[in-house]
Amino acid sequence: MNISGSCRICNADIKPFMSFGSMPLANAFLKETEFSNEYFFDLSVCFCESCFALQLTKQPPRELMFHEQYPFFTGSSKLMTKHFSEFSNEVSSRYLKTQDPFVVELGSNDGTLLLNFKERGMRLLGIEPSESVADVARQKGIQTLGKFFDEDLAQQIVAEHGQADLFLAANVMCHIPDLHAVVKGAKLLLKKSGVMVFEDPYLGDMLQKTSYDQIYDEHVYLFSLHSIKFLFETHGMEIVDVEAQSTHGGSMRYTAAHRGQHAVRDRVTDLLNKERQNAVGDPKTYITFKEKCECSKKKLTEILESLHKQGKRVVGYAATSKSTTVLNYCKVQPEWIEYISDTTPMKQGKFSPGVHIPIRPYEEFKNNPPDYALLFGWNHREEIMQKEKVFTENGGKWILYVPEVEVL
Ligand code: TMP
Ligand code: ZN
Repeated sequence: MNISGSCRICNADIKPFMSFGSMPLANAFLKETEFSNEYFFDLSVCFCESCFALQLTKQPPRELMFHEQYPFFTGSSKLMTKHFSEFSNEVSSRYLKTQDPFVVELGSNDGTLLLNFKERGMRLLGIEPSESVADVARQKGIQTLGKFFDEDLAQQIVAEHGQADLFLAANVMCHIPDLHAVVKGAKLLLKKSGVMVFEDPYLGDMLQKTSYDQIYDEHVYLFSLHSIKFLFETHGMEIVDVEAQSTHGGSMRYTAAHRGQHAVRDRVTDLLNKERQNAVGDPKTYITFKEKCECSKKKLTEILESLHKQGKRVVGYAATSKSTTVLNYCKVQPEWIEYISDTTPMKQGKFSPGVHIPIRPYEEFKNNPPDYALLFGWNHREEIMQKEKVFTENGGKWILYVPEVEVL
């Protein structure tokens, strides 16, 4: 999908302020025979001064990104599994006190979040167009529609199951270009007292940590509360609560409801004020962000090149979606990184998008530890550091690039 200079959320004029150059799709891990046909696009970002949303200038067609080979499984992270269990406890106690509640999840992936509601015996429905992950959810007994959500689908769901008490979306809204279709659908889907609770990587965190690797094909937006507020208010809904989350390198949980149906928590106003204080809406902030990205790129490539010259073994830790932006934007040479260790079978034996570094099973890292591990899974840092105590104690070094480039 292309845009010709207007914000997808508020329609104001926008201009690109930064280009990351030619990029492959972040999750398009590929075989050697596929190198010659690899898809690339120009990854550049715009910022909307009216609603404070960062967004891609162009996004590849969604069918190229979410399909039967989509390799991201929520359940692959213990931390995310734990996070979703806590998430379900919190929303259940706050919003699901009605008789026989109905819970719907947008982008339900392998069913990790919905499984928690299933255990409570609730009626549920997943919506997940990537068949690779949807099948895993179905195997867990979670009814899953392999479709993209909009008003039509909302109507079909209501006709078949009735309206929902809770509509969930975790790291999904930022993937969807036409959010107005989703919010119109949410409005139809939700009961009068129903709420939509969703989480997405937060623009404020990205700016603070220079975590530019949040920007890739699937993340068409990085939201501020201002942008989310504008979006829901356009459709007669409102944001009644917000809560910062540490997941995905810094996320925000938003609760939206039909206007006037739930009290608005003070922390909504507090966050709006904080965004203004932190100049989240100021174009100068994005000029500074761009300079910080360039500085980060320079530092990281200097370290990797120097270690390569010294003959040190450097291995990437976790073939994350975000690593695709880092490797391609920084123009990392494939010989600087021996391989990337990853626990997802679907990625193993393939190569990283664009730069073509081999992805190998985690066991290789464990059995023959390198001198340096480049932490692509920095958002899972706590979980990984805990797991890799032996590597660190035996003198293994870590290369980090968020929030600063450093060697530990
Ligand atoms: P993501 O950041 O795009 O969600 O990708 C997470 C990837 O990281 C996934 O392929 C699994 C991998 N991973 C590891 O290989 N080891 C780990 O300890 C963790 C937490 C993730
Ligand atoms: Zn806008």
